Amino acid sequence: MSRILITSALPYAAGAKHLGNLAGSMLPADVYARFQRARGRETLYICATDEHGTPAELAAAEAGMPVAEFCALAHEKLHAMGRAFGMSWDHFGRSSSDQNRKLTQAFAQQLWEAGFIEERVTQQVYSLADKRFLPDRYVIGTCPHCGYEAARGDQCENCTRVLDPADLLHPRSALSGSTDIEIRGSKHLFLRQSLFADRLRVAIEAKRSAWPNLVTSIALKWLDEGLQDRGITRDLSWGVPVNAADWGPNPDGGRPDVEGLAGKVFYVWFDAPIEYIGATWEWADAQAAAAGRAPDDQDWERWWREPGAADVTYVQFMGKDNVPFHTVGFPCTLMGVNERRDAAGRWTPASNAPWKLVDDLKGFNWLDYYGGRFSTSQKRGVFMDQALELLPADYWRWWLVANAPESSDSTFTWEQFRDQVNADLADVLGNFVNRICKFAESRFDGVVPEGGAPGALDEKLEADVLAKLRELTGHMEDRECRKATTALRQLWVLGNQYLTEAAPWTAIKTDRDRAAVAVRYGLNLAALFAKVSEPFIPGAAGKIAEALGEPFPGRWPSLDGEGVLTALSPGRPIRAPEVLFRKVEDAQVAEWRERFGGPAAAESA
Ligand code: 2FM
Ligand code: ZN
Repeated sequence: MSRILITSALPYAAGAKHLGNLAGSMLPADVYARFQRARGRETLYICATDEHGTPAELAAAEAGMPVAEFCALAHEKLHAMGRAFGMSWDHFGRSSSDQNRKLTQAFAQQLWEAGFIEERVTQQVYSLADKRFLPDRYVIGTCPHCGYEAARGDQCENCTRVLDPADLLHPRSALSGSTDIEIRGSKHLFLRQSLFADRLRVAIEAKRSAWPNLVTSIALKWLDEGLQDRGITRDLSWGVPVNAADWGPNPDGGRPDVEGLAGKVFYVWFDAPIEYIGATWEWADAQAAAAGRAPDDQDWERWWREPGAADVTYVQFMGKDNVPFHTVGFPCTLMGVNERRDAAGRWTPASNAPWKLVDDLKGFNWLDYYGGRFSTSQKRGVFMDQALELLPADYWRWWLVANAPESSDSTFTWEQFRDQVNADLADVLGNFVNRICKFAESRFDGVVPEGGAPGALDEKLEADVLAKLRELTGHMEDRECRKATTALRQLWVLGNQYLTEAAPWTAIKTDRDRAAVAVRYGLNLAALFAKVSEPFIPGAAGKIAEALGEPFPGRWPSLDGEGVLTALSPGRPIRAPEVLFRKVEDAQVAEWRERFGGPAAAESA
């Protein structure tokens, strides 16, 4: 049985996270991790704060705090908020950790010594007003590709193109707003991505049928446009320092310009994905410390390095803006430390313990708010911390997974949110569990009833449940979020249909055994719902399991039908859980629209 390694894109340690951030990476990764654990697979779900680079520096400057202090605080907040949303991370790390610094520096050294990094003097944007270089997000201007006027120097969030600050039209400083800008030369390191173009194309073509079309088309578009070598250092003080003094010669005998590179740090997009490995190392160290034993590199390397990791399936989750860095940037880093290339262009393995590259990559489109963008500055849309003040996490989790922007962008509206959570959670699931448990409490002394023999209706239920369960499981294995929620909802609907047809409240008047069978099947169905709903709505699933005396989280039911509706033995005490889902009221929708902005706010965006 394979082990499952899951990473979700690392949130920047900067500012509030809106629901779209949750919907497009952390939440689906969590649902998938919970599912795989329930299936009995050894699963490791890793996330962390992405703490370097201009996003963190700018946010710290805005908050008037030293950047290290700001990041520590942002990490704690994001960690707590993620947990409150039910993120079942095995570890939530920090890209500023010692482990990540060591890995980043070691990878850069290997890439240099293998000839995959070269030095170039590049033209950088320098602000005379701010008296400093302005890398990446320190510059704002017009995107030369799509004309978006607020494009940032690292990437246009409108067309997702990766940019160089010097590409922007009408550039201005994000610090002072000054347009008093000149271009100055500065020594930097470049990762020679172009050398990997053919190998990457073969790898991505091989994933065409397995990965979402969104992902392979973004990756291939990058390659079709001609893969550029990428600057991997910056004129910043916050980040992983370039350790060129430690490096040996490159294959041509060249030495790095230690002086010219002094005081520079690696680009945030170089060290951030390495933190997927760094955070696994942090996790292993924390585990060892908790168990009072010495750290052992094997504990984390077995997830990341062949041959130990041969049975690991590595799955990444992210929004579409992150796809280029994960299909091209990070694979170049890993291929570069895994391989050697001689002067004739022949490739050979660099070590017998190569690092693991991604197996499955799940990318998402955007979640919008009334058709416009979520925006912190314009106070439009609901953010993670605010959402939990309004309703428990399950409501958000359910709606966001059921409406995941998989094949296209999707949009959040309060009206659709109200209608869907009321219908699915309150009317279908909540109502079913409440009806069956209350009836068992009042008419069968709060125990799973004995007696009676199953008839055609019960056998049909069993067959229908099994078919739907197989469908749900297949969609979960394929990481098809929306299809999985549709199958799960249909499974819940089977419960209400069965109760309506079996009508134990009528049967009990004339045939107690018949009513006993229906109640027993109904309670077993509720127990099954707790197991298969746990990845999506762990809060409610836990309450159902507890009311039925079931272990939680439980094991995913067997697909061969064995015990699918007979897990609860007759005589077991049960009780009705507290109300699982209260309906969202029209008055609440009106208030929230007022508070967070509605269609009008999106139109003016
Ligand atoms: O776009 C973002 O929010 C980045 N912080 C994602 C980084 S993913 C990983 F590679 F670290
Ligand atoms: Zn653009």
